[in-house]
Amino acid sequence: MLQTRVDSGLDGVVVADTVMSEVDGEAGRLIVRGHGLQELVANRGFEGVAALLWAGYGESGDEAAVRCGLGTARVRAFADVPRLLAATDGLGPVEALRVGIGMLPDSDPTPHHHLVCGAIPVFLAALLNARMGLSAIAPDPSLTTAQDLLRMMRGQRAGAVFEKGLDTYLATVADHGFNASTFTARVVASTRAGLISAVLAGLCALKGPLHGGAPGPVLDMLDEIGEAGRAEAWFDEAFAKGTRLMGFGHRVYKVRDPRADVLKAAVATLPSTAGRLAFAAAVEQGAIAALRKHKPGQRLETNVEYYTALLLEALEVPREAFTALFAVGRVAGWCAHIFEQETDGRIIRPQSNYVGPRPEG
Ligand code: ACO
Repeated sequence: MLQTRVDSGLDGVVVADTVMSEVDGEAGRLIVRGHGLQELVANRGFEGVAALLWAGYGESGDEAAVRCGLGTARVRAFADVPRLLAATDGLGPVEALRVGIGMLPDSDPTPHHHLVCGAIPVFLAALLNARMGLSAIAPDPSLTTAQDLLRMMRGQRAGAVFEKGLDTYLATVADHGFNASTFTARVVASTRAGLISAVLAGLCALKGPLHGGAPGPVLDMLDEIGEAGRAEAWFDEAFAKGTRLMGFGHRVYKVRDPRADVLKAAVATLPSTAGRLAFAAAVEQGAIAALRKHKPGQRLETNVEYYTALLLEALEVPREAFTALFAVGRVAGWCAHIFEQETDGRIIRPQSNYVGPRPEG
C-alpha cells in the first residue's frame, strides 16, 4: 500500500538535498553555491559559474582551467560537425542538437562534462550556418564560450558589448534548482546511465513550451500585439481562448523572477534597444494586469523567458534557436546536478497509484 500521496506535478515536494542552488519563490531570490544571482553575474562569466558549480566534482573551481577545458572540447567537437550535418538535414536546431548530443560516445577520453558543454555551442553554430548555406566555422579555443559562439555564428567577433550580453545570459541561466530538465537529468543519472545520456534527457525536457521553449513564442506574442495600445484587447482574447501567456508564471516564484531584471538590464546595454524595451515593458505591464484580472489569486508574474526573448533577439539570434541556446548555459547546471546525483543519490524510483481494472477473482 502507498504510504504518501503527493501532488501530480510534485508541487512543493522536496526530493533531495543539493549544494548547487536555491530558488526562494517568496523572496524572489536565487543563490548559486553561496552566491546571490546579481553578485554572481557581476563578478563571474559563464566559465566562472561553471567552475563554481563543478568545484569538488573533478574540478578545482578554477575558472581558467574550465575555460581551457571547454576550448579544447570545442575543437574536439568540431570534428563531429560533418557527421552531425549529414544526419540532421531538415531538422530544427533543438531537434538537431538532440541528434548531436546522442552521437557523443560514452567512451570519449575528454572529460564528459567538457565534451558536452563544448559540443553544444559548436553544433549550434554549425547548424545555424548550414541553414543559411554557409560552412561551419572552426572554434577558437582561446575564447570564452560566449565570445566563440557569437564568432562562429557571425563569422567574426561580435564586439565586447554583445559578447558580454551573451555571457550574462549564459551565467544567469546556468542553474536553477530542481527545474524539470535538471530533475529529468538527475533521474537518468540516478540509474548510472552516464553523463551524456543524462544531459540528452535534460535537453528533451527543456525543449517543451512550458519550460525552455517559451522565449520564441514570447516574440511571436509581441509581434501579434504590434503596439502597446492593442495589448489589453489581445490579452482579453487570449484568455477567452485559454491561451497561456508565454514568459509569465512559474511553479516556484510567486513574485517576479529575479533573472528577469538581470536580463532586462543586459538588453539595455545593447545598441538600439530602447524603443523595443519600452514596448516590451508596456506589454509586460498589460500582461500582469490581465493575469490579475483573469486569474485572480494565482500570483502569476514575469519569468526569465520574457527578457530572455528580448536579449536573444537583440543579440541577433534566430528565434528558432532560442531553446538550443538556453541549453548552452543550462548544461553547466545539468552536469553539476549529475555529479551530485552520481555521488550522493540513490536510484530515483517513485511509485504510482494503480486506478485501472483488476483481474477478476
Ligand atoms: N498564462 C495564463 N495562465 C496561466 C499561466 C500563464 N502563463 N501560467 C499559469 N496560468 C494559470 C493556469 O491556467 C491555471 O489556471 P486555472 O487554475 O484557472 O486553471 C493556474 O494559473 C495554475 O497553473 P498551473 O499550470 O497549475 O501552474 P504550474 O505551476 O503548474 O505552471 C508554468 C508553471 C508551466 C511555468 C506556467 O506558469 C506556464 O505555463 N507559463 C507559461 C510558459 C512559460 O513561460 N514557461 C517558462 C517557465 S520558466 C522556465 O521553465 C525556464
